[in-house]
Amino acid sequence: CGIVGYIGKRDTQSVLIEGLKKLEYRGYDSAGIAVFTPEGLQISKSIGRLANLESKLEAAPLVGSAGIGHTRWATHGKPSDVNSHPHTDNSEKFSVVHNGIVENYLELKEELIGQGHVFVSETDTEVISHLVAREYDGDIVKAVQKAISYMRGAFALGVLTEYEPHKLVAVRQASPLIIGLGEGENFIGSDIPAILKYTRNVYILNDGEMAVLTEDSVELMTIEGNFISREMIHVDWDAVTAEKNGFDHFMLKEIHEQPKAYRDTIRGRVDESGRKVVLKDLNLTEDRIKQIQNVHIVACGTAYHAGLVGGTVIEQLVRVPVYNDVASEYRYRSPLITPETLVIVVSQSGETADTLAALREAKSNGAHVLAVTNVVGSSIARDADDVLVTLAGPEIAVASTKAYSSQLIAFYLLGLYLAQVRGTQSEDQVAHMISAIQALPEQVESMLENSDAIKAYAEQISHNQHLFFIGRGLDYAVAQEGSLKLKEISYIHSEAYAAGELKHGTLALIEDGIPVIALATQDSVLEKTVSNIKEVKARGADVMVITHEEHVASLLKSVDQAFAIPKTLPLFTPALSVVPLQLLSYYASLALGHDVDKPRNLAKSVTVE
Ligand code: G6P
Repeated sequence: CGIVGYIGKRDTQSVLIEGLKKLEYRGYDSAGIAVFTPEGLQISKSIGRLANLESKLEAAPLVGSAGIGHTRWATHGKPSDVNSHPHTDNSEKFSVVHNGIVENYLELKEELIGQGHVFVSETDTEVISHLVAREYDGDIVKAVQKAISYMRGAFALGVLTEYEPHKLVAVRQASPLIIGLGEGENFIGSDIPAILKYTRNVYILNDGEMAVLTEDSVELMTIEGNFISREMIHVDWDAVTAEKNGFDHFMLKEIHEQPKAYRDTIRGRVDESGRKVVLKDLNLTEDRIKQIQNVHIVACGTAYHAGLVGGTVIEQLVRVPVYNDVASEYRYRSPLITPETLVIVVSQSGETADTLAALREAKSNGAHVLAVTNVVGSSIARDADDVLVTLAGPEIAVASTKAYSSQLIAFYLLGLYLAQVRGTQSEDQVAHMISAIQALPEQVESMLENSDAIKAYAEQISHNQHLFFIGRGLDYAVAQEGSLKLKEISYIHSEAYAAGELKHGTLALIEDGIPVIALATQDSVLEKTVSNIKEVKARGADVMVITHEEHVASLLKSVDQAFAIPKTLPLFTPALSVVPLQLLSYYASLALGHDVDKPRNLAKSVTVE
């Protein structure tokens, strides 16, 4: 989601709309603004693209001196007019825009309902406006501080009240927020593009900090109310760089957003003890979970590759048979589906025509269909019996990165949850795996800090016509994704092979100098993979291996280069090993001068068969 806020003498409505236009890439399910007008605090909002809100405002403009705006990417509650932000309370004297998630909103909502508050939306945000209203005692800053002391989760807020029309309150708690400084006017924004047209002077808030803005002043404090000072930053990015948060391409930006995407996808799905996965929103009952006899995982493209990892995860953790298929095949082969089949469809966009058709086929055969998707309110999310949302945020680059890896996280959590219910893993095993999952975001961060070696390797291989990816087990699944990524954006021909299968034909293609990228992260088959590496080495291949640090020294005896990934449990290595492969394809495409974010012949979302 994206937030913008303004206080000053300009036409507030147009400042907010201009800001939202720059934030639309963060979400475009719905948009809305709240403005202090001479008649009081007024809200206008609309489902769909920002253009819908604009035409609504053209017919009925909101004129005033301060306001907040929001563009939404649905997480709690489907996209609709009523779920759009800003939200208000029953007195309609308070207005809130929010980016992020309030984890304990259901408990807070129940408490507020018990106290007579009436809710109109399904969102977690509405809870915030009611909380602020409840706590208000003549001081909006104190009311916001009290309200957030009850809230758990990650959020950035903009808050207005009709009682204090000369103030705009902003909070940052693990969701980005910046303050823009003007002359006789001030701004808030989820990121710099939102305000760049008006000012280049900003304060960047840290987690646990808030700001109180008037036309002429900005006060910064912690959420406990201790005043702080901050150095002003002057931004010299151009507008295009700013939209990509300083990165050259959306793809690179999205690769770097993976730690956040992991954290957001995990957040609220592990209980406070850290020993149990909680998937409260699922309709799939424990009884039904116990009756599952087989699982079908169906998807297209990159989502299919995430499903391959998911299939192994579920089979290993839950010990039920899993079949993976691409949606365009599945729907036409009359698959054997019974009411005891759990069908999992995976789709970033939630709109892929083949995946949607597969879902319908599965439903008509009585299966329970669970969708793993990044878009709440998408066709697939609406038609499925259950939705497990990945919280990667909007993905712009055609080549999927953070959506894929967040799908892996979703599968890890789902696998553990099913295992808990069916008792196939002990509580200690589950707890051990949860802590390994929780360590993944930081491990990805450390890899992203050291990407020079991959960049150099990408430049080296970019002039080859063909190359191969090999691996066993989960490494083979990741190899397929690595190969697809490279094909998509660098147009280099590559094949992914199960390492042990090479000798049955493909080995004939290996000749002097051909690059082979070997994934060797699965300790149980490491020796076998090393044998396969030797087979290609003996035919002249130039081998790069991706493995754990501890194996680098010994593997370097048989390969030309090695790239180390941090240590995790074998099931979770894909969430790490895919990162160097994403960077590899990115830098290869860059070296070749291709349009990284918009590769030829491809579309982000394919809504035709
Ligand atoms: C298109 C995209 C791929 C994506 C596939 C499935 O082909 O270019 O990146 O993996 O569709 O998309 P979905 O939105 O269903 O995950």
